[in-house]
Amino acid sequence: MAQFLFLCLTKTNFYKFLVMCGIVAYVGQQDALPIIIKGLKRLEYRGYDSAGVALLDQRGLSIYKKKGKVAELEKFLEETGDIHANVGIGHTRWATHGEPNDVNAHPHYSSSERFAMIHNGIIENYEVLKKDLLQKGYTFQSETDTEVFVKFIEDIYQHNGCSLEEALRLALHKVVGAYAIVLINLEEPNTLIAARKGSPLVIGVGEKEYFFASDATPIIEYTNKVVYLDDYEIAVVRNGELQIKTIENVETNPYINQLEMELEAIEKGGYEHFMLKEIFEQPKSIADCLRGRLDAKSGRLVLGGLREYMNKFQNAERIIITACGTSWHAGLVAEYLFEEFARIPVEVEYASEFRYRNPVINEKDFVIAISQSGETADTLAAIELAKSRGATIFGVCNVVGSSIPRTTHAGSYTHAGPEIGVASTKAFTAQISVLAMMALKLGYQRGTLPESTYIQLLHELAAIPAKVEKALQTNALVEKIAAEYKDARNMLYLGRGYNFPVALEGALKLKEISYIHAEGYPAAEMKHGPIALIDEEMPVIFIATQDSSYEKVVSNIQEVKARKGKIVAVVTEGDTQVKALADHVIEVPLTHEAFTPLLSVVPLQLFSYHIAVMRGCNVDQPRNLAKSVTVE
Ligand code: F6R
Repeated sequence: MAQFLFLCLTKTNFYKFLVMCGIVAYVGQQDALPIIIKGLKRLEYRGYDSAGVALLDQRGLSIYKKKGKVAELEKFLEETGDIHANVGIGHTRWATHGEPNDVNAHPHYSSSERFAMIHNGIIENYEVLKKDLLQKGYTFQSETDTEVFVKFIEDIYQHNGCSLEEALRLALHKVVGAYAIVLINLEEPNTLIAARKGSPLVIGVGEKEYFFASDATPIIEYTNKVVYLDDYEIAVVRNGELQIKTIENVETNPYINQLEMELEAIEKGGYEHFMLKEIFEQPKSIADCLRGRLDAKSGRLVLGGLREYMNKFQNAERIIITACGTSWHAGLVAEYLFEEFARIPVEVEYASEFRYRNPVINEKDFVIAISQSGETADTLAAIELAKSRGATIFGVCNVVGSSIPRTTHAGSYTHAGPEIGVASTKAFTAQISVLAMMALKLGYQRGTLPESTYIQLLHELAAIPAKVEKALQTNALVEKIAAEYKDARNMLYLGRGYNFPVALEGALKLKEISYIHAEGYPAAEMKHGPIALIDEEMPVIFIATQDSSYEKVVSNIQEVKARKGKIVAVVTEGDTQVKALADHVIEVPLTHEAFTPLLSVVPLQLFSYHIAVMRGCNVDQPRNLAKSVTVE
């Protein structure tokens, strides 16, 4: 799908409470356990503090859980013996409350151990439900809301004498919060029951077999036919048939989507880490993002998702960009792009701040929400808020079918392909590529960008993938420089103009994967405080490419040099001025300054990658982080 164009589907406002976790389930003829374990490993980016499975075979329904990564669970299962089942559910957890341990890990049994459930989300009224169940004599082993949820379903089941499906439906009318759940039932061996509200759930449709997962990565190996379950829907697979109903008991027709993802896109393909693979994929991911949209020769620039909303976009009084983390940095780059080319005022907001400060926003505002995962809780909540005030919401997302594209009025996918390393790299450059196309289109349509400049910029943007390829050739040099700085305790990243967000992004990359403290600043701000930090121990990373603020940045470099700071500079090929001052320079090709971030960020990504590897850090799964931040 080239663009997304979805209308508002969700009614929820619960995103602030979502919990990060990954769920996988299988029912069919194959051995369920290897499918589930492999799937959980693919979803580990969503959480990796404990994992578990529930399997149903002739012996009954058994749960196996272990604190730690999925590999720990796998080892434990191997030691347990030969386990074969055709139906099972699995979960990988990222704890928000209830410490990561074997007991709090999912799945959770109902009291009779007739059912087991996995859950991604959070039940806000679980304490009230628990109090009620305690009064009825229920006991609880774990501290989780999920155990309360499954026991609550069982209580309804027993009390009403109805089917599990009906008990679930009734329970869903009473629970407050968010969930993607899958239930397995001892008495129905060929059945899985799932439901969703606020947390993602994809159903893979095979030949008489079905897969459930938090995203499509565990499924792609077996089928490319998927159904995205919507909020307030319940899916039942029974004896090889899938049925979907709303929680009002109205049957709906499952819409089968064709997945375009390739299996190799989610494998390491010979690289030591996903992060390195994803950094090296950028020439291709940017080209994929531009493909079919930008044709420099004919001057054609088409973003299908924008078509219907172009009028609103062009006449917007203000553009508000909302996002988190790296996506927010891409938003900052976009602020420069939109203001320079389209002359519309732009505000870039941390989604987490925007949603809590009663912002002034109305129907004349055009809001752009940027997110790799499409699941970030704060960004989703910011969208809901802006939507409730009448603004038009446009999403720039990477994960096809995720919650943000399903919630916004329209949008464009970044087409970067699955990004599995927790640190965002190729998603960042793809986001900037989409935003650059939007800015060029808008500027041209509004007449603020003359045709000749527009055409020249299209050519320049089309040349970016080849230039990124060249920027990647700095890898060996960057690795050498990294070896010199791997033991630093702090680093400062400085850049101006379009390279200021790159400084922020470089610092974030270093912090999150190598655990070295780093700060990004506009270079000129250094003299207002950070300069006090400079001594011979302080490495300062300058982004000093040939652009309108080059001379000013050179002055800042001199200021650092005068204080004996160590200087690493990303410069434009052929630079001599900075070379004479810096301890190390890394050259990237020349481009229009508006597109410089697409090149200057590359050595910074490589720099943090190599430092993290040299420090023995878990590059793809840094401590305390998860890829989909579905918690506030
Ligand atoms: C940093 C990183 C995070 C994400 C942030 C937003 O490398 O990955 O800062 O950028 O959590 O995530 P998305 O883009 O999925 O909304």
